[in-house]
Amino acid sequence: MCGIVAYIGPQQAFPILIKGLKRLEYRGYDSAGIAIFNGGLKVFKKKGKVQELEAHALEASKESTIGIGHTRWATHGAPDDINAHPHCSGNGRLTLVHNGIIENYALLKTALEKEGHTFKSETDTEVLVHLIEEIQKRDNLPVEEAVRIALTRVVGAYAIVVMDSKEPDKLVAARKASPLVIGVGEDEFFLASDATPIIEHTRTVVYLNDEEIAVVRRSGDMKIKTIDNEVQAPFIHELDMKIEMLEKGGFDYFMLKEIYEQPATIADCMRGRVNAAEGLIRLGGMEDHINRIAQAKRFIVAACGTSWHSGLIGEYLFEDLARIPVEVEYASELRYRNPIITEDDVVIAISQSGETADTLAALELAKEKGAMIYGIVNVVGSSIARITDAGSYIHAGPEIGVASTKAFTGQVTLLTMMALILAEKRGTISKSYFRQLASELAIIPKKVQKVLEYDEQIKYIASEIKDKPNALYLGRGYNFPVALEGALKLKEISYIHAEGYPAAEMKHGPIALIDEQMPVIVIATNKSAYDKIASNIQEVKARKGLVIAVITEGDKVISKMADYTIEIPDTEEPLTPLLSVIPLQLLSYHIAVMRGCNVDQPRNLAKSVTVE
Ligand code: G6P
Repeated sequence: MCGIVAYIGPQQAFPILIKGLKRLEYRGYDSAGIAIFNGGLKVFKKKGKVQELEAHALEASKESTIGIGHTRWATHGAPDDINAHPHCSGNGRLTLVHNGIIENYALLKTALEKEGHTFKSETDTEVLVHLIEEIQKRDNLPVEEAVRIALTRVVGAYAIVVMDSKEPDKLVAARKASPLVIGVGEDEFFLASDATPIIEHTRTVVYLNDEEIAVVRRSGDMKIKTIDNEVQAPFIHELDMKIEMLEKGGFDYFMLKEIYEQPATIADCMRGRVNAAEGLIRLGGMEDHINRIAQAKRFIVAACGTSWHSGLIGEYLFEDLARIPVEVEYASELRYRNPIITEDDVVIAISQSGETADTLAALELAKEKGAMIYGIVNVVGSSIARITDAGSYIHAGPEIGVASTKAFTGQVTLLTMMALILAEKRGTISKSYFRQLASELAIIPKKVQKVLEYDEQIKYIASEIKDKPNALYLGRGYNFPVALEGALKLKEISYIHAEGYPAAEMKHGPIALIDEQMPVIVIATNKSAYDKIASNIQEVKARKGLVIAVITEGDKVISKMADYTIEIPDTEEPLTPLLSVIPLQLLSYHIAVMRGCNVDQPRNLAKSVTVE
């Protein structure tokens, strides 16, 4: 996590850096800092959000056409002013911002202390800048060479930008396992953890690769080499992103905007891919590899958080429709448990950001073991998108609210398309059922729109349960992962303890928690287990639990048992998660707002988890 941003060129750096940091705040908001240079080095740092840094620097003179900035998600050391980045070398010549973790920092620190270095902060980052200083000092090296040598001694992950006050006409950047994008303007460069701070200045970008170092100069010159000193030719990309995508557009929070965008983002995910009239579904990413994918002995899905929940829905889809065995793994567990992965497996990584460290590492392991790796990713050009053998973007546009919403429905839409393509190829569903599912999928955006129209009613239910300390979410089959996702949304943004459970499992534990204080949110839209879920609701009611049921329009039975109901339009059962999750997103959103929580930036969380 952590966001870094830097600028060099003819414009004033400070306002560009502040605006860039605000765009990157989703990556962490424990503290923020900026260093600029104008005859001398000036460093501003403040605990808290970027807004507080801005206020802190309000009166100061901030003239400078070069600078580096950082917004932090604390790993080493408390989130305070001293541990905030940028960090300076002992001689005050170098300043550095860093996203990642230097794993061998303790060893390096001891060695540097022996050389007489003293440290102000508890961070691993300060050790790195002192190491660069030590190397630079010893042989009077240019900063880029000192950075290169230092990085050969570092174990861990980094995206860094370094400013040398003796050479204020250049910036040095490097990355390994943490992202870094360079925006190329007219005699100016914008460096950032992702493209969002860059897009309003230039569409031309270069994604730095692992173990590459870039030197960008005020003259407009850019040089890239590896840490092994091999010169690299920069590969220029043109960004396809609109600035409005990064603004709230009249909504109070990004999360609400993103919930409301879902009819459009699901449609975007299917655009050019689903042709219901002709009963055709195609995914460019699968085409060149279709035989290997369709003949896989097993799929292994590796993901974290919300993406893991969509992976679970993928398991139901692939097994039910395409009859391919699936295992869904938390990426962090997969990589550390000596898993059996063979060349006959296809490992599917699901990730909104495309940067989650555990997911990336799990993929590297799968690659080593010879499996094919397929990515389902939102952020174009991200690390996961680049290391996979093949993959598909979900095209949800930038997701800024820390709690994932539109990325989830995009992932589920993509998984549904994949499952249908494979089902057709493997002949595991009838042609008529394939056509039926394809045409239902094509009209899902309209049905999502309809669910959004129940927002006022959902807000009312939120007001009734907002003060409860716990909540239980129940679902069966395709809607069990939706129950998990509903519970995760609630705890992430409202800090209410919530658990998701398969409805029938309730009897094996959670039922002991049920009393009149316990709201139980039941997704009761399945046709296949309707009677069973109705019995589960009776079991909750018998213990005085408060039942909020998500039901299918026109339901006559469960609607009478539940205390509150929210209707969703009828659809084919494998597609119900795309509708049933929407009221749960809205419910947690309203509860969190009513409890006075910062919905977009919940405490202790970050959107892009680039630490393991
Ligand atoms: C963090 C975010 C979640 C996200 C998870 C996985 O925990 O707060 O919203 O689901 O990371 O992130 P990814 O980018 O890999 O989907």
